[in-house]
Amino acid sequence: MRFVSTIALAALGCAAMASTVGAAAIPRAAQLDRRIIGGADASGGVVTSTVFLTATDVKGRSWTCGGTVITDQVVITAAHCVIDRDGNVVPPNQVEISYGGTSRSRHLHVTAQAVVPHPNYSARGGPFANDIAVIKVPQFTPGTGLTMAVIHTSPLPAGQQLLALGWGTQTSNHSGASMPDQIKSVPVQIGDAAACQRVDPSYQSSDGPRICVLNNSVGGSGTCKGDSGSSLLAIENGQIFLTGLTSQGGQSWEDNRCGTPGGFTLFTHVGYYLDFIRDAINSA
Ligand SMILES: *[C@@H]1O[C@H](CO)[C@@H](O)[C@H](O)[C@H]1NC(C)=O
Ligand SMILES: *[C@@H]1O[C@H](CO)[C@@H](O)[C@H](O)[C@H]1NC(C)=O
Ligand SMILES: *[C@@H]1O[C@H](CO)[C@@H](O)[C@H](O)[C@H]1NC(C)=O
Repeated sequence: MRFVSTIALAALGCAAMASTVGAAAIPRAAQLDRRIIGGADASGGVVTSTVFLTATDVKGRSWTCGGTVITDQVVITAAHCVIDRDGNVVPPNQVEISYGGTSRSRHLHVTAQAVVPHPNYSARGGPFANDIAVIKVPQFTPGTGLTMAVIHTSPLPAGQQLLALGWGTQTSNHSGASMPDQIKSVPVQIGDAAACQRVDPSYQSSDGPRICVLNNSVGGSGTCKGDSGSSLLAIENGQIFLTGLTSQGGQSWEDNRCGTPGGFTLFTHVGYYLDFIRDAINSA
């Protein structure tokens, strides 16, 4: 697999493009499961806001991601899930959201009405800047068990355990054939700031634009291709909050393998982008 300047987690549905995208790993699991790369099936109670997304650009290239429902008409995902490699935003009618279950093949579908990536998204080398997008849909069908995620807005200390969800591939080398039908989950831990700076020199804490997870693959677990845009949740006092979305990861910036010991994942910190989200919803 050819390594591009950045490691993104979108899964390519198109073989011709598969050699050009890297992937990132969601973090590792402790004892439970082995991977999203290896994760256990996420319980229905946790995944009720997480959706599956397919995007097809004007050249017919398509890929898959995840997203999180935050209102009855709005999904949050990664900007790199709705912007193609030429830098063009995917037309809304080419973005399909599947929802209402943990199986990506049995979901209900809705087509986007508006796609609003962060205006200052950048994928130039190293960590993506502002890797977040708002997608507006006409309306989700009620009565499907879908719930709206609550965005976490209080501080997230290093060491806190979070849960990453996704339908991403289950092999370290991103082989698309092993993308699961059932969504997977994997517990991850927020990394220590000093260690995270080796991956992202601007990283101060998880209260900034990104949440960093290190060494996410010790048990052979982690996020991988296809997990991009998908939910990173905190469960506090029995309540589920949306903290992040999967952005990038790998063994290192030069090595995009997922689920290998010592790897990293960067998640976009959703709570940091409340102003953007509000403005994007109003403009969409
Ligand atoms: C994008 O960057 C410009 C220039 O730094 C800044 O003025 C603007 O507020 C940014 N937009 C958002 C939504 O953060
Ligand atoms: C990718 O990994 C899978 C499972 O580990 C393996 O079967 C397959 O041969 C690998 N493909 C490549 C191209 O290395
Ligand atoms: C990653 O985990 C392994 C196994 O637990 C440990 O030996 C290693 O020191 C860890 N590396 C980092 C950078 O934390």
